[in-house]
Amino acid sequence: MKKITVHPVSSLQGTLLVPGDKSISHRSVMLGSLAYGTTRVENFLNSADCVSTMNIFRMMGVRIQQKGNTLTIHGKGLNSLKPPKKTLNAGNSGTTARIILGILAGQPFTSRLTGDKYLRRRPMKRVVEPLLQMHARISGEGDGNWLPLKVETRKLLGATYRLPVASAQVKSSILMAGLFAKGQTRVVEPTPSRDHTERMFSAFGIPFEETKNSITVYGPVKPFKGRKILVPSDISSAAFFIVAGLITPNSRLLLKNIGVNPTRTGLLDVLKKMGGRITVYPKKTVKGGEPVADILVESSRLKALVLDDEKLIPRMVDEFPILAVAASQAHGKTVVKNASELKVKESDRILMMAITLKKMGADIQPTTDGWIINGPTALTGCALSSAGDHRIAMSLAVAALIAKGATTILDTENINTSFPGFEALLKKVSKHR
Ligand code: S3P
Repeated sequence: MKKITVHPVSSLQGTLLVPGDKSISHRSVMLGSLAYGTTRVENFLNSADCVSTMNIFRMMGVRIQQKGNTLTIHGKGLNSLKPPKKTLNAGNSGTTARIILGILAGQPFTSRLTGDKYLRRRPMKRVVEPLLQMHARISGEGDGNWLPLKVETRKLLGATYRLPVASAQVKSSILMAGLFAKGQTRVVEPTPSRDHTERMFSAFGIPFEETKNSITVYGPVKPFKGRKILVPSDISSAAFFIVAGLITPNSRLLLKNIGVNPTRTGLLDVLKKMGGRITVYPKKTVKGGEPVADILVESSRLKALVLDDEKLIPRMVDEFPILAVAASQAHGKTVVKNASELKVKESDRILMMAITLKKMGADIQPTTDGWIINGPTALTGCALSSAGDHRIAMSLAVAALIAKGATTILDTENINTSFPGFEALLKKVSKHR
């Protein structure tokens, strides 16, 4: 089992380039595989999760060449996927499993999809349910809630589906199925979730209609051509260094080319409100339609705040573990509400952050849908389990930078699912007197 040991630092200094965006990398492989002609993806996130997506399309006959972080996908069109010879495996990646189910549901062949032991414990009903409404045939234990799932061939019909919870994975799965379904497929969201699928539909020239809370596609869509995609650096990976730069004294970090799609920048808004010195230098929108910026962070005196705006949750859904670390150093009582989605991520993140940060000395109480965190508190290094959750592991590594003594984080293999090279980058910017 992999582990990392982090020693306290005196400051963090430097300019960093974090790897490509996970959500956008997944979608570039999916749509590039369904396009006809060549799709070139630059700054692809070469992480375990995105490799799972790539392997699944390779197993369905798509030729994908990889040179470092550049992919060349030789798509043969919307109806070109071949029946896989073996069970498809999404590994640890919920995004792969959920969005690909929408694509598999529209195929003229039967397929089977599974995942690793963590993913097999995560709910799939949230995508299976709407896909069944579109006449898909999907079966598995718990009424199709758990991987492995069998997807049988069926002609899909468009439907209107109201998401009970804002989820880009569910929205994207339905929209992908909508590409193959006959007629109108409409997704209505309670509050907007990340819109990378929609932006990439636009980039590939796939027509769709959008209102304030709904997206509609008319299927089956006409063939669309491959194109160039430049993946921005992942704001969810940058988040660890943004908080690290704020809470570590005498620090200054410049993060380059970060994707600042407004559906992803909730953490920046919250940290700025907390008094974080964060400067965003916007740049040109990149090929693929995503806005990018350089972000400068400097150590700051943070103040606590109450987070209960439901609209905020999807805009920073993956950043709550690292927010909890920031809150442990903020003056006053931070209250996080309406974040129960965190319980069904790669681990129960509400519980895991409460257990681990408490062990380090933080004053943190888990609640049914968030935390109550009183700060600032001194942290002490110790041995901690990440429960195999990459974002828990990296959040604890950041907390360890300001702890007294060394911290060992166990079960860190899964950092590779989203942020290969995290430990090396952390070492690169760490200064010890
Ligand atoms: C993702 C959406 C989010 C996020 C996940 C990636 C995506 O999940 O937590 O890491 O790429 O669509 P939900 O949309 O289910 O909240």
